Amino acid sequence: MDNFVNDHIEKLKNYEPVESDDTLRSKYSLGDKEIIRLNANENPYGSIKEINDKLSNFSFHNYPDSNQAKLRKFLSKYTGLPSENIVAGSGADEMIELIFKIYGKKEDVLIDAQPTFGMYSFLATSMGMKVINSPRKEDWSIDLLKTVDLINEHDSKLLFIASPNNPTGNVANENEIINLLETGTIVIVDETYYEFCSKSCSNLLNSFENLIILRSFSKWAGIAGLRIGYMMASKNVISNIFKIKQPYNVNLAAEIAAITTLENSDKLIENIQIINNEKEDFFSFLSKLTNITPFLSEANFILCKFKNNDSEIVFNKLAKEGIFVRKFSDGNLKNYLRISIGKPEQMKKIKKVIKTYYEKS
Ligand SMILES: Cc1ncc(COP(=O)(O)O)c(C=O)c1O
Repeated sequence: MDNFVNDHIEKLKNYEPVESDDTLRSKYSLGDKEIIRLNANENPYGSIKEINDKLSNFSFHNYPDSNQAKLRKFLSKYTGLPSENIVAGSGADEMIELIFKIYGKKEDVLIDAQPTFGMYSFLATSMGMKVINSPRKEDWSIDLLKTVDLINEHDSKLLFIASPNNPTGNVANENEIINLLETGTIVIVDETYYEFCSKSCSNLLNSFENLIILRSFSKWAGIAGLRIGYMMASKNVISNIFKIKQPYNVNLAAEIAAITTLENSDKLIENIQIINNEKEDFFSFLSKLTNITPFLSEANFILCKFKNNDSEIVFNKLAKEGIFVRKFSDGNLKNYLRISIGKPEQMKKIKKVIKTYYEKS
């Protein structure tokens, strides 16, 4: 059987997802200690309670609407775009996968502005595409000249730009995006963290047919576990997605949760404000430590650079206390940790562990 597996799949390394609480608990011998997850940019406040109320009275025996008519109507109102420019999926992740399914071709090249969200290079590789890194500059902005050169040199059809970028937290500005769109390549701006900064390039959709925007309900709406995201793009792109997507790709619970979220977003907006305030406070705490350089972020996490290979030590100190942050297997980010913003009491705990370590060392 193994010799039937496509070459590029055989060589593919597994994606590194966040580990479950149970796995972390046994791996770090945590007993019944509380686990604080600051490693997946999840929303510590969770979803609004109206979702639970709605779901508890709902019967799930029917398939969802494959045309997503009601959901798209709500998304249209939220985004200001016509429904025909919108399609939803099982997380932004599914949207990325469908884009590769339509436009990706074995042996084609994906230019990837790293460090960035690992799913772009992972899914490109799973298609048999080649990934070429166009490293970001020291301030984590995209190296425009190099990226445009590489796109032209390799006749690259797709370029993903996360804005705010994961794990660096910076946004791409409109001029950069326009420059990239003018190459003619399909530019996918991934706005998964949009609600934390309210910066979008959706105003460019009317002028550029090659622009695709992705959004998610995972982070701001606190429903990562239900898996729902959406795409905004030209009618042509959307109709291609409808051609190939699984008919019932958004499950009914996720659809109801997304609509309920859009009907009741006030509480979530309040929580976003609390998270952003907490982020500012954490940034100023980190800035005072000489061994850590935090990077300004427009999302719900902060990337930190550590001196003296401290990142591994700090990671382990935190893990021992049940606090998990994101470390990286990418060699270029060896001395970095990405820390999601939690509730004030969780941030108090993480600050205490970090402070204690640096006071002692
Ligand atoms: C930039 C970016 N895009 C997409 C995703 C995946 O989002 P979703 O949960 O909607 O699939 C993530 C998740 O961490 C992300 O950081």
